[in-house]
Amino acid sequence: MILAIDGPAASGKGTLGKRLAAHYRLRHLDTGLLYRAVARAMLDGGYSLDDVPRAVAAARQLDPARFDEQALKTHALGGAASVVSAIPQVREALFALQRSFAAAPPGAVLDGRDIGTVICPDADVKIVVTAAPEVRARRRAAEMRAAGTTVDERDILADILRRDERDSNRPVAPLVAAADAILLDTTCLDIEAAVSAAIAIVERARR
Ligand code: DC
Repeated sequence: MILAIDGPAASGKGTLGKRLAAHYRLRHLDTGLLYRAVARAMLDGGYSLDDVPRAVAAARQLDPARFDEQALKTHALGGAASVVSAIPQVREALFALQRSFAAAPPGAVLDGRDIGTVICPDADVKIVVTAAPEVRARRRAAEMRAAGTTVDERDILADILRRDERDSNRPVAPLVAAADAILLDTTCLDIEAAVSAAIAIVERARR
């Protein structure tokens, strides 16, 4: 079984992806980490984020087995990842890795922006997770405060809106719901309620 989970920044799709993978005993790939790792390599190397040949080379050299998830999950790297992810050649360089991850038995949960539309158009179940931008900003700010960072929720909201705009309007593989995706709005749901709702969607789709 392949589950495709797409959604905007801080919608909770990563947590949902992890929980669904554990529930159905599937492997899980947070595809945002791939773009974050490319951005990280560019920044570490002192390269501009729009240097296409360098970004493609970084994408080809990724080794997901060596990712430090916590270091890649920062708010700032999310913005940089959004910039490199708009480069079509970077997306192309990461395509086969994602496809073969999904295809290996017993199946997988992939979360990202283009899973249901481009990476796994034949996924068994496609969920698009959404939440009001203000709620996403509040959740992200709370996470950052819990990690000891001082944050202004208005700045986080502005970053999230900028990222939504870039990820949804780029010409290649924008964040759009596949025609057969089911929307899950988590604005008024806590994580447990969101997980239950997602499992109910999967069960309905499998019947
Ligand atoms: O899911 P995330 O917030 O960690 O993703 C970081 C950025 O990477 C996001 O703003 C856009 C990009 N991304 C993408 O273009 N396609 C994906 N499948 C996953 C992430």
